[in-house]
Amino acid sequence: MLQSALINVMVKAARRAGRSLARDLGEIEHLQVSLKGPADFVSKADKRAEQMLFEDLTKARPGYGFYGEEFGRREGTDKSHTWIVDPLDGTTNFLHGIPQFAISIALQREDTIIAAVIYNPANDELYTAERGKGAFMNDQRLRVAGRRQLHDCVIACGLPHIGRGNFTLALKEMAVLQPKVAGFRRFGAASLDLAQVASGRFDGYWERNLSAWDIAAGILMVREAGGTVSEIDGGDLLTTGNVVCGNEYVHDELTRLLRPLK
Ligand code: IPD
Ligand code: CA
Ligand code: CA
Ligand code: CA
Repeated sequence: MLQSALINVMVKAARRAGRSLARDLGEIEHLQVSLKGPADFVSKADKRAEQMLFEDLTKARPGYGFYGEEFGRREGTDKSHTWIVDPLDGTTNFLHGIPQFAISIALQREDTIIAAVIYNPANDELYTAERGKGAFMNDQRLRVAGRRQLHDCVIACGLPHIGRGNFTLALKEMAVLQPKVAGFRRFGAASLDLAQVASGRFDGYWERNLSAWDIAAGILMVREAGGTVSEIDGGDLLTTGNVVCGNEYVHDELTRLLRPLK
């Protein structure tokens, strides 16, 4: 696979931030963990990684805006390009030493996501996608799974943590879907849930109340792997963060079952 200059820039930045996270993983007791809200942890590792990504991406593309989870929006002179970045998706996993976390970088031009990188430094899985050019994991081209019957499907999901989202609705959704699917998985890193729908490991995924930095890169990843992604109730996906995806059949079936429950 020949990588474009843009993807190269993003991969280099993700790998450097990934080395920082890998070092921090061994030093969890020194990470000054604090709470942004109930069960919403942040640590020195998240902040250090975001600062590195900001420096590397802004150096490579001066003027682009930057929108990250920990430091918010930093405007650039180029109003049409914005990096949307989660420096550590899966903080709770990371702080427990569970190797399911990632750096997620998307580039948005006007309203369109044109490039994406999701990198899990714990297993060195690197997902890349560019609009119109396909999605890859390391050098392997990705394609969503082909299953068409929900009862054959493994579906990933997310539950809201304390103080965020509608827990009653999430439980209702799970109660309706559970008897219809082969199995649920809840891994705790939205970017990797989406990446693993792109790779065909999961047949589908839904979760509500996510933020743009959780899903921007993963949305492009799934679409470039031939999948369908949308907002569960038909709203603006990056605004509500209510995401549902899979191949066309799985996506449509999940949407049909989820919509009336709200
Ligand atoms: C979280 C993860 C998790 C999702 C949460 C997110 P963070 O991101 O993506 O899977 O269920 O809603 O906030 O805070 O670990 O970057
Ligand atoms: Ca967080
Ligand atoms: Ca996140
Ligand atoms: Ca995060």
